[in-house]
Amino acid sequence: MNDKKNETLWLKCSAPGPYPEIKTSRSNLFYAQLLMEDYAGVVSELSAINQYVYHHIMFEERDKELAELEECISLVEMHHLEMLAQVIRMLGGDPQYKVVKNNQDVYWNGSYIYYGQEICDRLVSDIEGEKAAIAQYQQHYKLITDPHIQRLLERIIQDETYHIQLLTQALQKYCT
Ligand SMILES: [Fe+2]
Ligand SMILES: [Fe+2]
Repeated sequence: MNDKKNETLWLKCSAPGPYPEIKTSRSNLFYAQLLMEDYAGVVSELSAINQYVYHHIMFEERDKELAELEECISLVEMHHLEMLAQVIRMLGGDPQYKVVKNNQDVYWNGSYIYYGQEICDRLVSDIEGEKAAIAQYQQHYKLITDPHIQRLLERIIQDETYHIQLLTQALQKYCT
């Protein structure tokens, strides 16, 4: 992929409107821990990036348009990952690819993603992943009362909602 294409491709898969400034009211390790789940848990930006990149590679041989959609969405997820990492840093956390469960580090691993067989099962799983991500962000929105972080989560949810729209269009085109 060339850089010029990369510069503009992701814009096609992000919802219109600017992203809020990355800011936090104060450091808060509990908030950092919650955001680590969105960052590198089972349902996370890291899982989404890797699932989309894998599907992109598998679709390249089958359908260029669909392959480009997967790539384009993965770039937006990468932007989400980066913004979450910045917030986690500001909250006093360390954005390694892990979450803490029962006082133990659980590192991200490749079993978290749905590899799939064909176009339709992969698209269905992509859509389910987006829905699960939105539900998790909404849960965390309620627990994180910092308005700066809430604005960021709202904006990310807008992108994920747009991804559902794009993926559903593809599902209708290829799977009916
Ligand atoms: Fe995302
Ligand atoms: Fe998404």
